[in-house]
Amino acid sequence: MPEIFVEGGHRLRGELYVQGSKNAVLPILAAAVLPEGETVLTRVPVIGDVAVSLEILSALGVSVSFADGRLTLCADSLCSAEVPQELGARMRSSVLFLGSLLGRRQEVRTAFPGGCAIGSRPVGLHLSVLRQLGAEIFSEGDRLCGRVEQFTGGTVTLPSPSVGATEQALLAAVSAAGETLLRGAAREPEVQILCDFLCACGAKIRGQGTGEIRVTPAPLHGCHFEIPGDRIAAGTYLAAAAATSGDVTVRGIFPAQLRSSLAVFRRLGCLVDEGEDWVRLIREGALRPVSRLETEPYPGFPTDMQPLILPLLALASGESRLWENLFENRLGLAGELNRMGADIEVHDRLAVIHGVESLAGCPVAAHDLRGGAGLLVAALAARGDSHITGRKYMERGYEEPERNLAALGAVIRCSGESGQRRGKREEARWRNSDR
Ligand code: EPZ
Repeated sequence: MPEIFVEGGHRLRGELYVQGSKNAVLPILAAAVLPEGETVLTRVPVIGDVAVSLEILSALGVSVSFADGRLTLCADSLCSAEVPQELGARMRSSVLFLGSLLGRRQEVRTAFPGGCAIGSRPVGLHLSVLRQLGAEIFSEGDRLCGRVEQFTGGTVTLPSPSVGATEQALLAAVSAAGETLLRGAAREPEVQILCDFLCACGAKIRGQGTGEIRVTPAPLHGCHFEIPGDRIAAGTYLAAAAATSGDVTVRGIFPAQLRSSLAVFRRLGCLVDEGEDWVRLIREGALRPVSRLETEPYPGFPTDMQPLILPLLALASGESRLWENLFENRLGLAGELNRMGADIEVHDRLAVIHGVESLAGCPVAAHDLRGGAGLLVAALAARGDSHITGRKYMERGYEEPERNLAALGAVIRCSGESGQRRGKREEARWRNSDR
């Protein structure tokens, strides 16, 4: 299995153009079964979860052609509503095919979704919104199934602003017989981007970015759409700059989407400059502790940035307190950081971090996507060499992290097949494929 070797202590300098957003492209790929005609997506990241989504689309009969970040899809040849069990169980966002396949095929069979081990990851809110729109949802053994003549439309209420359940409701509502008002919707940029894609396909959607989204269905046609930059990947490289007293500019990102994270970098003592589509982070002095930090739904501090900030707090000059309010098991990174010499106490959802002078490189293991990225940030700052296993989690969401970090001055390598070669191999599978 690929592993990562890092020689810590090198300052990162330079700039990079960030990959397309994983959490924006995945719901769009679930939506791709809906429009008639050809859809072309550009700036599609070459990452594991996209590869699984393309396998699912191909198994459904969608024609797929993928090369150099440009993805051409056509669902006119769609011939199935069954998501293969072994594919559906590999990632969280496979659950989004429920709404889109019910809208297109009036039936669906899929797996209970997989995803990072950061909590129980229930899907009750997804099933609730589909039922509120008229679907019959049931399980057959380990399969999740549904059927509906046509979604009805109406008012759908979410008790909490679940990103996935909001996306699920949108993917169903665009095929409904009437207008839908979604109350309690998530405000994340990735939800807004899905709405932008569905509007480009012909839907009429208003209110995205607020808690109330109104969807007026219309026949959906293919479109050309560029995937915006990945705000969490951008935040990851900025955190790597902060960890190494570096000076890094990330381009291809809208600073407004990272507002709360940039505020945390500033509270840590970093200098953060920003332009229309770039952010520059410079760290010169010591990292400052942050007395109270909580993860919250957008526009609050994002849970996905928590594992990237934790190693910085571990190196700050004092005590910090961080609450993980979104996922019940997302502070597991603390154990691995403590193996590197950090001093972090975890009490349920609270991490009390006593800053230390430095971390020591050592063998550590990634257990989830962002936790693995957090270990990378820590290893870049540490004294000596680190050996990180579990790279398979990181390649689900990061496009060639070793290559990007090495270009900024990191001394890093990946054993086994590199992400770049794997990505090219994956792309070769879809280059001008006949399906
Ligand atoms: C999306 O996950 C993202 N994944 C996550 O990013 C992100 O952490 C999360 O939103 C929050 O921003 C993708 O977009 C593919 P939620 P999602 O539904 O939709 C509970 C990453 O690292 N909940 O907003 O699964 C849930 O348990 C990933 O890129 C229910 O109780 O998140 C959690 O406590 C990790 N029932 C809270 O809501 C449900 O039916 C927020 O989850 C659904 C969710």
